[in-house]
Amino acid sequence: MAAEKNFLSSISHPSAQPSSTASGQPLHCVAPARVNLLGEHTDYTGGLVLPMAIPFETHATISPRTDNFYSFTSELFPDAITLTREDRSPARSLWADYPIGVLRQLQQLGIEPPAFDFHLSGNVPFAAGLSSSASVEVASAMAMLAFTGTSLSIEEIALLSQRAENEYVHSPCGIMDQFVITAAKAGHALLLNTRDLTYEHLPMNKGALADTQIVVCNSMVKHSVATGEYRVRRRELEEGQTILRTTFPGVRDLGDATLDQLNQCQHQMSHEAFIRCRHVVTENARVRSARESMFSGDPVSLGQLMLQAHVSYRDDFAASCEEVDFLVDTAITLPGCFGARLTGGGFGGCTVNLVERSHCNAFAAALKAAYQQQFKISAEIYLCDAVDGAWLRNASLLNRRATQERA
Ligand code: GLA
Repeated sequence: MAAEKNFLSSISHPSAQPSSTASGQPLHCVAPARVNLLGEHTDYTGGLVLPMAIPFETHATISPRTDNFYSFTSELFPDAITLTREDRSPARSLWADYPIGVLRQLQQLGIEPPAFDFHLSGNVPFAAGLSSSASVEVASAMAMLAFTGTSLSIEEIALLSQRAENEYVHSPCGIMDQFVITAAKAGHALLLNTRDLTYEHLPMNKGALADTQIVVCNSMVKHSVATGEYRVRRRELEEGQTILRTTFPGVRDLGDATLDQLNQCQHQMSHEAFIRCRHVVTENARVRSARESMFSGDPVSLGQLMLQAHVSYRDDFAASCEEVDFLVDTAITLPGCFGARLTGGGFGGCTVNLVERSHCNAFAAALKAAYQQQFKISAEIYLCDAVDGAWLRNASLLNRRATQERA
């Protein structure tokens, strides 16, 4: 895996003056959404994830103001917020918490953007498990950094976006979403080791995989990472992880643990902690195997791993629901489908399906019709190719670092 570590040492000094483009246009950052192919709830216990960026877009634009205020507006939400540059008020449970949380993180790093108007637009589905929040955070971070004339590494942009969500919005997410939305490469999935943030771009066009496409199916059953179940799962994993560490001092986190070690600790932990940890330990192994499947261009074995992952997510992690299980069970009976699973934080949201390209349209129509008939819900289906991570539309400007690192 390519290891790049820059973190705080990579901050260059912010300029006192706001940046503007040569044409005087606002600074404009575009960030994608993401779908996770494999590796669920492994990203806060030192594990592996395999997401890719998908072609939805969040647009963050910033233009200078001549007074002492920051304003936040969006065509997606009615509430507009204006703050003084000195304001340090807590979150308001509004959409603007996400860009304001990013601003707070920049301020904590000593980066004080000049007064600005921030505007948000885009088409990422909300609360669908496709990371609309991380997309807003990363777009905001890159736009604010460029506006301030400051460079940060890919890792630091992802980490500060995650901290904005953890510390300001108080949503306990891991690092996967912010990282892939910053670091993704078109045509590739991203294999990330969430303990040390080393990563590898895995091509999606080897062998027979070149004839497949990722089909995302939105069950339209909403969930939110900020709700209780995500926190409960985190606590259960913490319980198991603490016992593993005490019993096996070499084990830093679940990313190190083997199934054998976990089994030896079974009697010391609650049944819930044990089966949640079993999901994570086996999920990490599945992500490792998926890397081999992708390099050998084998959609059959990759699809099998996705199906096994769904069973583990459903039974051991108890993160699925009736509607999503129906979508997965139906998908795998349809021609051209190699594998299907619930993707993202769980408890609703989207399934991700690996489907032979020539069958995609028929697959989508059949899945949608079956779901409509069963639940009277109209699923949305997105045929996705992997796209690049966030980029600055006015990239001739200052902060090209993230784009350069990715290339
Ligand atoms: C949400 C979180 C991620 C990750 C997934 C589960 O998307 O934001 O950090 O934990 O759930 O894999």
